[in-house]
Amino acid sequence: MEDDIALSAPLFAGLDGDAAATLVATMKPIELTRGDVLFHEGEPGDRLYVVREGKIKLGRRSSDGRENLLAVLGPGEMFGELSLFDPGPRTATATVVADAVVLELGHSELVQWLQERPAVAQQLLQALARRLRRTNEALADLVFSDVPGRVAKALLDLSTRFGEQVDEGIRVAHDLTQEELAQLVGASRETVNKALADFAARGWVRREGRAVVLLDVDRLERRAR
Ligand code: CMP
Repeated sequence: MEDDIALSAPLFAGLDGDAAATLVATMKPIELTRGDVLFHEGEPGDRLYVVREGKIKLGRRSSDGRENLLAVLGPGEMFGELSLFDPGPRTATATVVADAVVLELGHSELVQWLQERPAVAQQLLQALARRLRRTNEALADLVFSDVPGRVAKALLDLSTRFGEQVDEGIRVAHDLTQEELAQLVGASRETVNKALADFAARGWVRREGRAVVLLDVDRLERRAR
């Protein structure tokens, strides 16, 4: 149980091992495969999820059918809490990008848990604050940064979740298609491809299907600024 990565989620932060184990025991594990949709934008929602394994993308669709990704989440991350704290429709669609196991917690269990343990509420507020900071930054990048800068930033961000140290640098198995990567960056597939091809030609990255190896993190960081 102690090595369950789901326990690093804000929902469990600040709890001792026993309390965390009690909460995990009340949560229902759900096994999912790539392409499964956990919930759709606009649906009513009364449960939140913690990722134990795999990857989940959170996407929104515009009225003309274009899609934008808000985030790609991995083990230890939480989603689906907004419609719990502020009852209303789901603000995004949650789709499985890489086979996943998520833990599900219902509204009434959460409310009871928060009443008994205010420290957990504080951790959740911190997680929401962190997300707002990230979202503000992403918004500023959309206005102020060019596409290659945003691509560099997205790769670095993905590397903090899914990166693995290898001899040449950091291998990031993001499992995203080119289209999904473009939706995450908020640009067309062609422009994102061009930026990646340019990074590859400069020797900053190497592309490997649904993964990328970051060969020169310093240069990518400078490009992301
Ligand atoms: P909910 O609105 O219930 O369902 C969609 C979920 O996506 C939402 O809860 C959040 O957990 C998550 N979400 C919404 N906006 C963002 C964002 N900007 N960054 C990361 N996650 C988000």
